Amino acid sequence: MRRKIVAGNWKMNLDFQEAQDLVEGIANLCEEKQPDCDIIICPPFPYLEMTSDMADDTQYFYVGAQNVNDNDSGAYTGEVSAKMLDSLGTQFCIVGHSERRKYYNEDNALLAVKIKKLLEYQIVPIYCVGEVLEEREANTHFDVIKKQIEEALFNLDVADMENVVIAYEPVWAIGTGKTATPQQAEEVHKFIRTLICEKFGEDIANQIRILYGGSCNAKNASDLFAQENIDGGLIGGASLKAEDFISIAVQASK
Ligand code: PGA
Repeated sequence: MRRKIVAGNWKMNLDFQEAQDLVEGIANLCEEKQPDCDIIICPPFPYLEMTSDMADDTQYFYVGAQNVNDNDSGAYTGEVSAKMLDSLGTQFCIVGHSERRKYYNEDNALLAVKIKKLLEYQIVPIYCVGEVLEEREANTHFDVIKKQIEEALFNLDVADMENVVIAYEPVWAIGTGKTATPQQAEEVHKFIRTLICEKFGEDIANQIRILYGGSCNAKNASDLFAQENIDGGLIGGASLKAEDFISIAVQASK
């Protein structure tokens, strides 16, 4: 049985006080509801330390970053390295979110390097894949996802692959209120697991966790999480409200 993950991607939202209130709200609700899944909070960089301190104090959740630079250190103004993340107690990092692919031109080759860097520091990459609407309409989404998986993950060895989480996020469902149906999502998750099985073997394929992301919320989470190959969610908008986020975590605990 794979333990489910509910990860909150706050994106570029909230000021420091709001972030602190939200982390506290999440911790309080965890205390009350005792969700039985891995909860990850991915705040903006400036709030990682505060979130990490709270994670240490309460032990209710893990902390993840939303991005990392592909270099070790040096003259890269404005960037943040895997070593820096590690030194703040960051255990996970989102890589290849569609917003990074779109606005910052991140391609699979660059993402492959970022994933390796994170693994060097024992930070678990949450690698995002997913098609845009035109690709789904043209029925090329399986090819697109296959390429994203092959080019960023297939150079890893089995030991590293064990420590990767994958998130399927159809771009047309992100922030649009248009969720993939549980069947549409399950079909892609199953496809991804098969690709992993063919390359890395059955053991890894059975243990790797594949999250769904894209307008996942407190109303639709349980139907999505009931699918055989959906191991939790990467939650954007609904992760900014403690009640909604923990309601999703409770639904992942069944
Ligand atoms: P959303 O975002 O839940 O707001 O659609 C998900 C994501 O981008 O990770």
